[in-house]
Amino acid sequence: MSFLQYKTHIEEGDLVIAYITRENMMPLIVNPTMTYNNKFGTFKHSDMVGKEYGSKISSHNGRGFMYLLHPTPELWTHVVPHRTQILYIADISFITTYLDLKPGSIVLESGTGSGSFSHSLTRTIAPNGHLYTFEYHEERAKAAKQDFERHGLADLITIECRDVYKSGFEITDTVHAVFLDLPAPWDAIASAKRAFKQRRIGKICCFSPCIEQVQRTCASLNENGFVEIKMFECLIRNQEVHTIPIYTVKDAVSKIKAQQEKKRKRREQDGEKDHTTKSQHKQEPPNLSVSKTPTEARGHTSYLTFATFLPILDDE
Ligand SMILES: C[S@@+](CC[C@H](N)C(=O)[O-])C[C@H]1O[C@@H](n2cnc3c(N)ncnc32)[C@H](O)[C@@H]1O
Repeated sequence: MSFLQYKTHIEEGDLVIAYITRENMMPLIVNPTMTYNNKFGTFKHSDMVGKEYGSKISSHNGRGFMYLLHPTPELWTHVVPHRTQILYIADISFITTYLDLKPGSIVLESGTGSGSFSHSLTRTIAPNGHLYTFEYHEERAKAAKQDFERHGLADLITIECRDVYKSGFEITDTVHAVFLDLPAPWDAIASAKRAFKQRRIGKICCFSPCIEQVQRTCASLNENGFVEIKMFECLIRNQEVHTIPIYTVKDAVSKIKAQQEKKRKRREQDGEKDHTTKSQHKQEPPNLSVSKTPTEARGHTSYLTFATFLPILDDE
């Protein structure tokens, strides 16, 4: 099975993303001798074999159900075991666009981390692009390599376990774009510069959670001759849906009048209940769903610093 091509039917050994709710999904490698248990009951893997991707299956006690989804990079980002902090959809799509990634792009990445970004990026550059990704933590590099192989991405990705601050990338005149998600990207920028195809424009992005890191990154990009240095912060703003009653103008006017009258009587009668006012509003108005954005947009993951590599001209 591959993240790059859809297949219709589930076979033994395939990866299925079990969709229980929007917030609750589980990656399962189908093994007919296994069962998957959750609070909705027991699901036998053997029931999944031969089903179409997208099917709904019921639990054995009939109390619940789930959908069997074909894996995609977006779903993988939801379920990937977090061996590190990972990139999420909003940043991933923004970076992919601003790095100008497309089928055939050759890209350099470090660190690989949990491989969340690597999965999306590889789908974008397929079928003839290539990703060179570097991770210095041995276990993470091994786990990411295994994921790439299982997910049919291995031909498009070269992963290497290496400390890129100490040893650099040792890639020259090869890539169209560079993505650095490292604690100190400035220590890798000079080496990344040599990796760019030297006779064409290239794009770099550095992903850093703190503004002090952005400052040092900008200084290093500047010193290394990168241009068009820009920084963005990508925030997700949720919409909250509420139900409000719909009043006609007449209803609204009489409601305001009733409230004013109520206040007046309260003042006059010093606490006595006003039955007249209440009886005027026995009928509840119909409801309308509206949405609004919260005043505060939370969800900062990192700042995205982009810059352009300028090609070396013939007379240089
Ligand atoms: C935040 S994670 C990257 C997450 C990744 N972008 C994702 O979406 O899953 C940063 C990774 O950089 C790796 N790293 C840190 N310093 C490094 C270095 N000098 N050379 C190579 N990798 C390094 C860390 O081990 C870590 O796995």
